[in-house]
Amino acid sequence: MPMRIPPLPSSDITPEALYVDRRAFLGHAAGALALAAATPRLAAAAAAARQPQPTVGRVTTGEDLRPELTPYADVTGYNNFYEFGTDKEDPAANAKDFRVAPWSVKVDGLVKKPFDLQLEDLLKPFKLEDRIYRHRCVEAWSMVIPWQGIPMADLVRRCDPLPSAKFVSFTTLYDPSRMPGQRRPILPWPYVEGLRLDEAMHPLAFVATGVYGKALPGQNGAPLRTVIPWKYGFKATKSIVKVTFHERMPKTTWNDVQPSEYGFYGNVNPEVDHPRWSQAKERRIGEFRRRATLPFNGYAAQVQSLYAGMDLRTNY
Ligand code: MTE
Repeated sequence: MPMRIPPLPSSDITPEALYVDRRAFLGHAAGALALAAATPRLAAAAAAARQPQPTVGRVTTGEDLRPELTPYADVTGYNNFYEFGTDKEDPAANAKDFRVAPWSVKVDGLVKKPFDLQLEDLLKPFKLEDRIYRHRCVEAWSMVIPWQGIPMADLVRRCDPLPSAKFVSFTTLYDPSRMPGQRRPILPWPYVEGLRLDEAMHPLAFVATGVYGKALPGQNGAPLRTVIPWKYGFKATKSIVKVTFHERMPKTTWNDVQPSEYGFYGNVNPEVDHPRWSQAKERRIGEFRRRATLPFNGYAAQVQSLYAGMDLRTNY
């Protein structure tokens, strides 16, 4: 991933106060976050994935991130989406006319029955939720973003994985006629990222269809993208067309391209530097000062049990 971080024009947009006032945002049901440290973790996650449970419920970290919201113009104007170009402003310009209807998603791999569904049919059983999450890019910039979507656990259950499934991967559309960046071999297309199944089942893991109460714009991964707030942004997959379940750790784009720089886990960790730069601090888009980066991007209390007993220096 290029190191260049162009200075953003300092934004004088007020943090979307109107939007915040009219939306019913998350309560403070921190209790919903008590995820047991499952042992063995993966078997428990596979069992949970097979339970036909309803939505896990709204979750929050117990803190109000609303005052920190990154303005809509920055959330939708400063993006990484190499399928639409490698400069931060390219995706907004080049995805302007990206058509996302009709859109179908294929579910395959270790599932009871592979299927292919139009997005609206896939999402029909679910009520959209609001989540405000910190977003930390591996390039050491960050944002706070209000998403709409569904818990990833709900999507996983709807896919009905087999007990042997231990990992899930998400694949981006491959269509160079609509995604000009794919006409060049910048990455081994299509973009694929994956998670362990217990990570995907965690109540914080999310699949977004909207941002700031509007449908996702192309540059943010329309019509469907993952959001895993305790991981670096590269672990999220935009414009998903395929969800695949695996027994073994799947090949993922950044780990495949540069394994010494991008681990499979991609958990935000201020103590493990990227080989070419420090991860100790970050620049919140719209701010001048640098902030200290928090372990697991501030979600350690909720997610660290997923990694109990693991050396996070080698499993980066
Ligand atoms: N997904 C695809 N298909 N292509 C990409 O280039 N970039 C990743 C991730 N998902 C990327 C992607 C990176 S590096 C980041 S930081 C986030 O998307 C950026 O998401 P945002 O533009 O909504 O902030």
